[in-house]
Amino acid sequence: MSKPFLSVERLTQSFPDGAGGTLTVFENASFGIEKGEFVCILGHSGCGKSTIMNVLAGLADPTSGVVKMDGVAVSGPSLDRGVVFQNYSLLPWLSALKNVTFGVKARYRDWSREKVIAHATQYLAMVGLEGDVIHRKPSQLSGGMRQRVSIARAFANQPKLLLLDEPFGALDALTRGTIQEELLKIWGQTEQTVFMITHDIDEAILLADRILLMTNGPFARVAESVEITIPRPRVRTEIVEHPNYYAIRNHLVQFLGKRSKELAGQASDGESQSPQSVRIDLTTPPTEDPEPAPRPPRLQAVNS
Ligand SMILES: Nc1ncnc2c1ncn2[C@@H]1O[C@H](COP(=O)(O)OP(=O)(O)OP(=O)(O)O)[C@@H](O)[C@H]1O
Ligand SMILES: [Mg+2]
Repeated sequence: MSKPFLSVERLTQSFPDGAGGTLTVFENASFGIEKGEFVCILGHSGCGKSTIMNVLAGLADPTSGVVKMDGVAVSGPSLDRGVVFQNYSLLPWLSALKNVTFGVKARYRDWSREKVIAHATQYLAMVGLEGDVIHRKPSQLSGGMRQRVSIARAFANQPKLLLLDEPFGALDALTRGTIQEELLKIWGQTEQTVFMITHDIDEAILLADRILLMTNGPFARVAESVEITIPRPRVRTEIVEHPNYYAIRNHLVQFLGKRSKELAGQASDGESQSPQSVRIDLTTPPTEDPEPAPRPPRLQAVNS
């Protein structure tokens, strides 16, 4: 079988626990992401989601294991991987616009100044930032505005892989909905692959092709990979009517409420820890038969 676009192989991350011991956040975690896929990861606070993302971004070295993108081991940050951090991380001495043009200039070195500014302004407008506000420094912006600058900055660089750590956490519900739609639009128009951390189950179902579920730490595991069997394009108000919506949602709630604890804290015993593939589909596939026999609902868990 061919290797996925992004391949996480036996990743282990341990930190000193501050009391002379070692905290193993996760051990031998292995999973893949295909090119163009939109993958969300859900798990309780502290299980290691940001830690995984920092390794994928090349910002932290794992204790062991390797991440490969297009077959090449990730080492150090790259313009091919755009990151939206949980805490925005804007450059405080630059305006919103310059925070965006900074990366665009580095990525597209042959572009004229006007082209860089027009491109950055377009991405800021996409996240609802227009007019004078784009000339303000981060300290003069609200938390939600800063988060939007951070999103525009990552998208404007058009990286092959977008890594988003709770990118909409500081946004009000209305802005959040608009930006989720923008994100889907941008993703639909490009070849980008997205890996996104969120705590919002409904957001994950709306956006993702697959949701990875993490158990609680220490020794957290990416235990399941749940396929979102709801066709695209998806509209928030319509997908809740889809027969699979609540079946998938209930599965995720059960996992986070119960199984994430039950499965927690188990060392890997040297085994590679790959998620179990879960496919929930209550729809009946179309058939040529004018009088089809009734089919039982499909609910499967397949070992990948
Ligand atoms: N540099 C570090 N040194 C020591 N421990 C760390 C370090 N970075 C993270 N940890 C620990 O690793 C664990 C996982 O942290 P991480 O930030 O990845 O969690 P998370 O799943 O992103 O949580 P949240 O949902 O709250 O953002 C935590 O127990 C945290 O204290
Ligand atoms: Mg985090």
